[in-house]
Amino acid sequence: MSSYKVGVIGGDGIGPDVLVEALKVVDAAGVTLDTTEYELGAVRYLRTGEVLPDSVLEELRGQDAILLGAVGAAANSTEVPPGTLERGLLLKLRFELDLYINLRPFVGVPGSLAPDCDFIVIRENTEGTYAGEGGFLRRGTPMEVATQGSVNTRHGVERCVRYAYDLAVARPRQHLTLVHKINVLTFSGDLWNRSFHEVGEEYPTITKDYNHVDATCIFLVEQPTRYDVIVTDNLFGDIITDLAGAIAGGIGYAASANLNPARTGPSMFEPVHGAAHDIEGQNKANPAAAIRSAALMLDFLGEEDAATAVNAAVNDFINSAPDPTLSTTEVGDAIAERL
Ligand code: NAD
Ligand code: IPM
Ligand code: MN
Repeated sequence: MSSYKVGVIGGDGIGPDVLVEALKVVDAAGVTLDTTEYELGAVRYLRTGEVLPDSVLEELRGQDAILLGAVGAAANSTEVPPGTLERGLLLKLRFELDLYINLRPFVGVPGSLAPDCDFIVIRENTEGTYAGEGGFLRRGTPMEVATQGSVNTRHGVERCVRYAYDLAVARPRQHLTLVHKINVLTFSGDLWNRSFHEVGEEYPTITKDYNHVDATCIFLVEQPTRYDVIVTDNLFGDIITDLAGAIAGGIGYAASANLNPARTGPSMFEPVHGAAHDIEGQNKANPAAAIRSAALMLDFLGEEDAATAVNAAVNDFINSAPDPTLSTTEVGDAIAERL
């Protein structure tokens, strides 16, 4: 079996702790990883002022994949301005490595609000309001202006929409929903809507649907089984995937893959959740999201059997009605033991 070069970025808060469990489970699945740990996040920033040095970015480009825990300072931090790590590290990696698909699968956990749901959100991952367009005029004066534009290119939207169709075609339900706000965002929404229908002509077997993002929040709670594959823009995808995590059993189970489908460089795998400073250092974060993210990585690296085994172990653990007070380490051990 081959060994894969994996860059490991534990990051902040619960990030390093959940990654320990993910790596433990990959090892138990019999896959050898040649890991390099990168100390990036608040600690390094406070020590050196560096967020993502160019030399580290270049090293990361040479990896087969990247596993990331979480980055971000606590909301009350006065030493790390908001966005320093999110934009300077996480979004920089997504943009620089052209990880234009953010794939987030949701399968309902028994006892959750949506035990029967089984859908995947394809979130555009390089554009929209995340692109960084905008700025200030007269900052700090009573006349100040702040703008934050949404960047939507035909190229960026189309490649995302096409990826979603390709995914939907490979699933039994053959159903794809565009989520946007075309009733108000009449420029970006129009481009998304036209791309959705134009590309859709190449996929005659797919049933197409459209929901406004606000109504999507109702349907995710009241009728989540209506979804098979959702395609949406960067910010809407961010928001609805936290909601999807909550209805499907909790954010501690929600995994994600930041994909460069062209494989011109490494893809990056991380839980949907963040640094969770409110439970940091307490050994009570659920590592399942990180473990499932590692399974997405194994699958993308071509280790499909190991990925299937890891997911089966996670599901078996979930179905065993585990004690909710189990620690991060105990959950990792219980899943690893099943392999
Ligand atoms: P969060 O996802 O960190 O936490 C939201 C809530 O979910 C908290 O109550 C937390 O305790 C809970 N939670 C999260 N993960 C959990 C887990 N594995 N097990 C059990 N409970 C869990 O979101 P936030 O509080 O808005 O953000 C905290 C920091 O993380 C911020 O700096 C933010 O920018 C950053 N963040 C980073 C990422 C990322 O690295 N991908 C994602 C989201 C937020
Ligand atoms: C996520 C996070 C990130 C996002 C932040 C930390 C930049 O919330 O991965 O969902 O908004 O994409
Ligand atoms: Mn988010």
